[in-house]
Amino acid sequence: MSLVTVNIDDKSYEAKENSLLIDLLILHDIKVPYFCYHESLGADGNCRMCMVEIEGKKRPQIACDTFVSDGMSIQTASEKISSVRKRILELELINHPVDCPICDQAGECKLQDYYMDFGLYDSNIDMKEKVHNKKHIALGSSVILDRERCVLCTRCVRFTSNITKSGELGVINRGDKACISTVPGMKLDNPYAMNVVDLCPVGALTSKEFRFAQRVWFLKSTPSICHGCSTGCNIFIDHNQEKYKEDKIYRIRPRKNREVNGDFICDYGRLSYKNLQENRQQELLNKSNVISYEDALLELNSKISGSKNIVILVDANLYNEDIAAISNFSQKIGAKLVCPTECYFDDSFGDDWLKSDYKCANLQAIKNYKIDSLFSSDQQIDLLINFNHPSFSKFSSKQSVEFSTHKGSSAELVLAIPAYSEYSGTTINDANIEQYSQKAITTDVATISEYLSDLSKVAL
Ligand code: SF4
Ligand code: SF4
Ligand code: FES
Repeated sequence: MSLVTVNIDDKSYEAKENSLLIDLLILHDIKVPYFCYHESLGADGNCRMCMVEIEGKKRPQIACDTFVSDGMSIQTASEKISSVRKRILELELINHPVDCPICDQAGECKLQDYYMDFGLYDSNIDMKEKVHNKKHIALGSSVILDRERCVLCTRCVRFTSNITKSGELGVINRGDKACISTVPGMKLDNPYAMNVVDLCPVGALTSKEFRFAQRVWFLKSTPSICHGCSTGCNIFIDHNQEKYKEDKIYRIRPRKNREVNGDFICDYGRLSYKNLQENRQQELLNKSNVISYEDALLELNSKISGSKNIVILVDANLYNEDIAAISNFSQKIGAKLVCPTECYFDDSFGDDWLKSDYKCANLQAIKNYKIDSLFSSDQQIDLLINFNHPSFSKFSSKQSVEFSTHKGSSAELVLAIPAYSEYSGTTINDANIEQYSQKAITTDVATISEYLSDLSKVAL
């Protein structure tokens, strides 16, 4: 495709011939309001917010349905365009309940932003004259629809018809009775259903899990990688530490990465933050008694020195940096390092889109380090050291040590370690892409690398 030159607000820009004008405006951060257009869903042309002036055209045109051509001259901020946008926004808001103070979308709502950018008119309609509608409709087990807030952009409908192809949603009725509905006999319960909450530009679709839980302006967003399966979808972990309380994760959202997950994630990954916070191991235990960090290292050291046949289990969810440290450690103490992988395999989970059959984040690192994935030992294991592998209880040994994120270990020596959201590191997904997760939540618990480095200071 050849390049063309387009003039926007008296500045020249290069673009691919016949590409969409709205993409060019978004790419160069040129302010253009839009509700219905979405890069992953394409243009629908129903909201009419993205109006621009094009030289040679009598009337304003929508940027989401305009293809660029050489020499095109565009105005995005003229008086005429500002007035058109203001009137269209007024139409969008005519029956809107304006219940921003109790709306979960407040702070990240396109209607609010555009009203401040382009609206600022006095309403011509009295609150009593507005057409009211149902405010709490469960579309499925995880998404609630507030029909009064909907601007009928149809992003949610197009997600179910074009992306998941499950077709649960549609627009019913006409005129000011038009509204979003589930198709009779269907519920919005597909494995990717909650993406419609992110797609909705206003507060019409909210997540049951996040409703009224937290104001978005209090949340800190940390870029990370989902550990739900080996696809490694890019995510934001949204968390907040309220006064006198622990830092807490309130939601996981997709983070755009065209090479991995596009704009979306699955609901399983989205809701996986709950497991990161429940039933967590925080203490160091020796035969169920709480011990200090120093005593734990001495006990571990004595168990290693007194054992001959040592087996180390490593979890395929750990970061590359941990796996490297564990691999060095196992060589140093002459242990057999294994990662049985059949426990991660679940072909009822995987699909032909994002979800993979392997429910672990770093299987590729296990392969790269040539760690045995099948293990059977006819010899008695003297000491089993488990680095959070889920199959620990299937092995028997004379003595056992477990580095664990969650409570419930049956090992004699239990050493608490942080979950992936609590420290930084890299994983390699099933397309062999190395990705970085940033620490979101602060914890006092030592990382595996810290344990092993401090252990090396204790005489082995
Ligand atoms: S519910 Fe949200 S995404 Fe769906 S049509 Fe209404 S405004 Fe658009
Ligand atoms: S597809 Fe896998 S990596 Fe992506 S969000 Fe779901 S569980 Fe997480
Ligand atoms: S974004 Fe162009 S008409 Fe809605």
